[in-house]
Amino acid sequence: MATKKPALRSQAWFGRTDRDGFVHRSWMKGQGYPEDMFDGRPIIGICNTWSELTPCNGHFRELAEFVKRGVYEAGGFPLEFPVMSLGETQLRPTAMLFRNLASMDVEESIRGNPIDGVVLLMGCDKTTPALLMGASSCDLPTIGISGGPMLNGKFRGQDIGSGTGVWQMSEAVRAGEMSQADFTAAESCMHRSKGSCMTMGTASTMASMVEALGMALPENAAIPAVDARRHRLAQMSGRRIVEMVREDLRMSKILTRQAFENAIRTNAAIGGSTNAVIHLLAVAGRIGIELNLQDWDRLGAEVPCLVDLQPSGRHLMEDFFYAGGVPVVMNRIQHLLHRDAMTVNGRTIGQNIEGARCWNEQVIRTYDQPFKPAAGIAVLRGNLAPDGAVIKPSAASPHLLKHRGRAVVFDNIEDFHARIDDESLDIDEHCVMVLKNCGPRGYPGMAEVGNMPLPPKVLRKGITDMVRISDARMSGTAYGTVVLHTSPEAAAGGPLALVRDGDMIELDVPGRRLHLEVSDEELAQRRAQWAPPGPPQRGWYKLYVEHVQQAHLGADLDFLVGSSGAPVPRDSH
Ligand code: FES
Ligand code: MG
Repeated sequence: MATKKPALRSQAWFGRTDRDGFVHRSWMKGQGYPEDMFDGRPIIGICNTWSELTPCNGHFRELAEFVKRGVYEAGGFPLEFPVMSLGETQLRPTAMLFRNLASMDVEESIRGNPIDGVVLLMGCDKTTPALLMGASSCDLPTIGISGGPMLNGKFRGQDIGSGTGVWQMSEAVRAGEMSQADFTAAESCMHRSKGSCMTMGTASTMASMVEALGMALPENAAIPAVDARRHRLAQMSGRRIVEMVREDLRMSKILTRQAFENAIRTNAAIGGSTNAVIHLLAVAGRIGIELNLQDWDRLGAEVPCLVDLQPSGRHLMEDFFYAGGVPVVMNRIQHLLHRDAMTVNGRTIGQNIEGARCWNEQVIRTYDQPFKPAAGIAVLRGNLAPDGAVIKPSAASPHLLKHRGRAVVFDNIEDFHARIDDESLDIDEHCVMVLKNCGPRGYPGMAEVGNMPLPPKVLRKGITDMVRISDARMSGTAYGTVVLHTSPEAAAGGPLALVRDGDMIELDVPGRRLHLEVSDEELAQRRAQWAPPGPPQRGWYKLYVEHVQQAHLGADLDFLVGSSGAPVPRDSH
């Protein structure tokens, strides 16, 4: 006897003839959908992070139309729904404060609605992890499609990259090397199309992670937002999700331990953002995969960076796409990958990357002659970071990777801004800049302020890098010898809270050490005088600060870790 396929979960809404079935269908028919759309075909939710306040995702309504075409072609019923959109450039105090909130929106929107499979439209930095996290906690068949990068920035004959160019030019203004007028003129030239930042910042990194994890069709990461091939990929993703529902190819079958290991290695090979560390740890926590901070160092640290893209290198995402993109990179590190990891197209990652050819050896280098050796995230430990801190060696200055210097301490970001341009500040290029209270609880939300601008008197000497240490994150578009994600953070009573001006700090990246040269007795005395900052009084800030985990765990809320699956909830009437 043939086994009968279980009915799709949407049939708990639409497959009924009673009062509630009437309610579920009739209101939908008010939008113009005919009777046969409710005949048991897969309902595909298109989770859209479109918003005019998230300019990087400003083209997502158009992109969704291409997804819908594909869903209809394959016999599915597409229904688009909005979720909270997180715009990296507008949202204060930091979009990261709301990543977990958006993930809750995604999770509950999926589970509470008649949805059998999900398409995630992701772009600007936090939209990608938020959607992956929320969808993981539901574990339906799910496919990702990224919005794609903007066209390369062009300013007076030169390529200029999102973020990276801003950090460079603003320092040039502070050093007196660039006029304010030129700085303003560059604004209209850096961002000249829809899409996400076209450096290998966090958005492009996370889009690459989506592809490396097997959660999107090949080439997802790099096709420019405005390239017709992005539309085709959206249409193909729409077709594919309907098949995935029929195959019951759930997220948990793709997001395996092997997939995360592939992603960690790919992140090193693309010179990806430190933010990927926190986001992948959080996604792994939702899908139930054991992944920890040390895995990043163990699996990724020795992997060379093949991709010569800003902020670590020269080129931009358009160049990366024309050179062959993520499939070429993964092909070139395939001996380090789990080739049999399953992906959304029903093929293994090994099959997907087979025969990928490189069309520009300057942009994507070979494994044997890489752009930078041993370029993955390094995890540091020591009495200053008992639970770890991270640094991206490929974006750091080689001569500073082993450094001992005098601490110049800033208690918070306001203190930093108030004093950094003061010519009487006792600081030189050998000092170690320390910024406190910018972690998950401290900011709150763990802002991207770890790449502190240098003092003008140092910049004027032509020096562009100093050792900087904080519990903050940094933009994926930034660079420098910047120690980030120090855990536990200062606001949670981590040793970072106890550092004082004049303390000596030793950074030893090859030795993976971050040491504060202060005795345990002295630290105990300082701790006795320390008091935690007062918590926020209400709303999301309060919930967040009371429940956010530390950076080394992925900064998810403690009660959101894990999955509830997608059982059909109780009737609504
Ligand atoms: Fe949105 Fe960079 S600011 S992708
Ligand atoms: Mg950012």
